[in-house]
Amino acid sequence: MQAYRASLLRFDSAGQPVHDEDGLVVVGPDANGRQRVQDAGTYAAVAARHPQVPVTHWPGRIIAPGFVDMHIHYPQTDIIGAPADGLLPWLENYTFPAETRFADPVHAAEVAEVFLDELMRNGVTTSLTFATSHPQSVDAFFEAAQRRRLRMMTGKVLQDRHSPDGVRDKAEQSLIDSEQLIRKWHNVDRLGYAITPRFAPTSTDAQLRGAGELAAKYPDTWIHSHVAENRDEVRWARELFPQARSYLDIYAGFGLMRERAVYAHCIHFDDDDRRLMRETGSAAAVSPTSNLFLGSGFFDFEGADRIGYRYGLASDVGGGTSFSPFTTMMAAYYAGREGQTKPGVSIPPSQLWWRHTAGAARALGLEGVIGNLQPGCEADFVVIDPKATPLIARKTALAANLEELLFALIVLGDDRLIERTVISQALAG
Ligand code: GUN
Ligand code: ZN
Repeated sequence: MQAYRASLLRFDSAGQPVHDEDGLVVVGPDANGRQRVQDAGTYAAVAARHPQVPVTHWPGRIIAPGFVDMHIHYPQTDIIGAPADGLLPWLENYTFPAETRFADPVHAAEVAEVFLDELMRNGVTTSLTFATSHPQSVDAFFEAAQRRRLRMMTGKVLQDRHSPDGVRDKAEQSLIDSEQLIRKWHNVDRLGYAITPRFAPTSTDAQLRGAGELAAKYPDTWIHSHVAENRDEVRWARELFPQARSYLDIYAGFGLMRERAVYAHCIHFDDDDRRLMRETGSAAAVSPTSNLFLGSGFFDFEGADRIGYRYGLASDVGGGTSFSPFTTMMAAYYAGREGQTKPGVSIPPSQLWWRHTAGAARALGLEGVIGNLQPGCEADFVVIDPKATPLIARKTALAANLEELLFALIVLGDDRLIERTVISQALAG
């Protein structure tokens, strides 16, 4: 057992922040030897319950749950900041050429390490990431994540049409490969498999149907795709699948909506789409830096809350412009202010934070496992230095309450705030 003392941020089951100015979190193995939070709360109360446990003290620092990135593309690490007139030319000119290189397992392994280093530096301890259509890109990623003892999810991208040579696969073989990868990796250590049709326009009916069958056969795998991101994309999807009521409804028709189904973007939705998300238990991965960068539009936070479906925050690197959860939370705040409805919403800082930690975990079907520091959670956390820069030191010292403190960190923060990232047993950063 090991205990860590600092200011402590957690969330209750209603998503409200719990803050102990002088807190203590006790970490130790469960019956299966996996490191979990055993106790958390004020130093005075928790230390008294665990008098023998050695304490590491980080004065002036904040311990907070590791961030959860609900949607990112590890093979797009090198194309952050590639300019384009929108999603479809961006895919054609930058994304597909970059992903073609992941046929080479050496390249895939090298980028996986760079990507995981970058997540750790930014305090992201779990992500649901796209790989590429090459099965070896999945092996490379899982091998790297397993060595670091991380909780990570990925899957082979399915795209058997409207895709160039080099990334295009074939329906039958793609489904065989996916099932082999599920058997090889799903629920091994802290790894999880995601059935990953890129988006409806790049899959045939046969491939989507097969993906839905796999999703039914392996009900605790994830489903990971994109929907309703860009107006040209929506028009294209509607032309290709005229029988569906909406773009989102295409996925429903192939059995690709259920708990642990995660759809990136979900911008161009109506209320029937929002109800379909709610009724199927599917979740949106809101990716505001990507939406701003590619000019896709703004997620409708008011609509999502009014209907009441699950969503959380995501970077969507390389469409997104930053690995930093602080940058993503800031962009989500801007997107909320702009909104699709007028007037826009002002998302409270603690809710932005929840949407990138415990709320994202809930949307992924991992509530009580990651994204929080309540007893029973896996002990992945960050140590934040609220004096990391002169201006942040000044602003955080002036904060009159928790919301002001969190807002100062979100507005001014970046990777410099993350003094260390602690992964269950392994220490990094
Ligand atoms: N839609 C289909 N593929 C992609 C992708 O790689 N990035 C984004 N942002 N949208 C997509
Ligand atoms: Zn994406």
